[in-house]
Amino acid sequence: MATTCTAPGKIYLFGEHAVVYGETAIACAVELRTRVCVERSNEILILSDIGTTGLDFEMHPYVSSAIQKLGSPDVSIEISSEIPVGSGLGSSAAVTVATLEAINIECGLLYDKTNIARMAHEIEMEVQGAASPTDTFVSTFGGVVEIPSRKKLDILECGVVIGNTNKGATPGKTAKLVKQVALLKEEYPDPIGSIIKTIGSFAQHGENMVMQKKYQALGKLMNINHGLLDALGVGTMELSALVYAARNAGAYGAKLTGAGGGGCMVALTDSPRQVACAIEKAGGTAIISGFAPDGVLQV
Ligand code: MEV
Repeated sequence: MATTCTAPGKIYLFGEHAVVYGETAIACAVELRTRVCVERSNEILILSDIGTTGLDFEMHPYVSSAIQKLGSPDVSIEISSEIPVGSGLGSSAAVTVATLEAINIECGLLYDKTNIARMAHEIEMEVQGAASPTDTFVSTFGGVVEIPSRKKLDILECGVVIGNTNKGATPGKTAKLVKQVALLKEEYPDPIGSIIKTIGSFAQHGENMVMQKKYQALGKLMNINHGLLDALGVGTMELSALVYAARNAGAYGAKLTGAGGGGCMVALTDSPRQVACAIEKAGGTAIISGFAPDGVLQV
């Protein structure tokens, strides 16, 4: 017998960076999944695109930590993923959550999802030194989630296209950018503090637009959020090129998603192919995705 689980990646509709200061954010699980197959074995084996190892905290830090967290059972684990690594889509949260849940089921450990999300966040903290619980929470439970309340909002009934700049995916990038914003806030507490609060207030308006299915208005608010992230210094020329290409191709709205400094942008649209084509023409890699109502799943 073997157990296979998948867990989704995530995008932010609103609120990255501002959420670090307690402001409202809206994060959504998206249909890009990491798949983890766990089978009992006579030794610990981890197989992925990177290579095959035993417990190896250098090459497979998240999976090794997940195995250790659950008492180091002898299991063989095979990983494959649709989520680009280090690009702000929560790839490390997804692999951690899917590994924990697949071992949990295969070994009959009976942890509930709240505990899976908690352990996954602890692992991200251990591996990265800092992590918000958003990625691991959204990957575990799926859907559209308001942060920090964790209130579930309605699933969006429009298309979502992700554009990857294929730049800036360096280890520790998120921590660096969070620090950069903190330093800017220290230097200019009032104006930067106001920008951060304004992002939070757009997220709150955005919640109403999500619930009323007013996607045109939602997109407009996302565009403003992108401008505010640029003002915080986390945008890049490449991200903005993809954002403007998506908007010009008719997207309701487009913004960078995640920490910025490269990585990915996201566009809401009812013409995903048109928007994806524009993103590719502007030099990005486009992924036509969808909103994921489910978090980690046994398949
Ligand atoms: C990174 O995906 C989102 C940030 O807000 C950091 C965090 O919330 O941990 C930049």
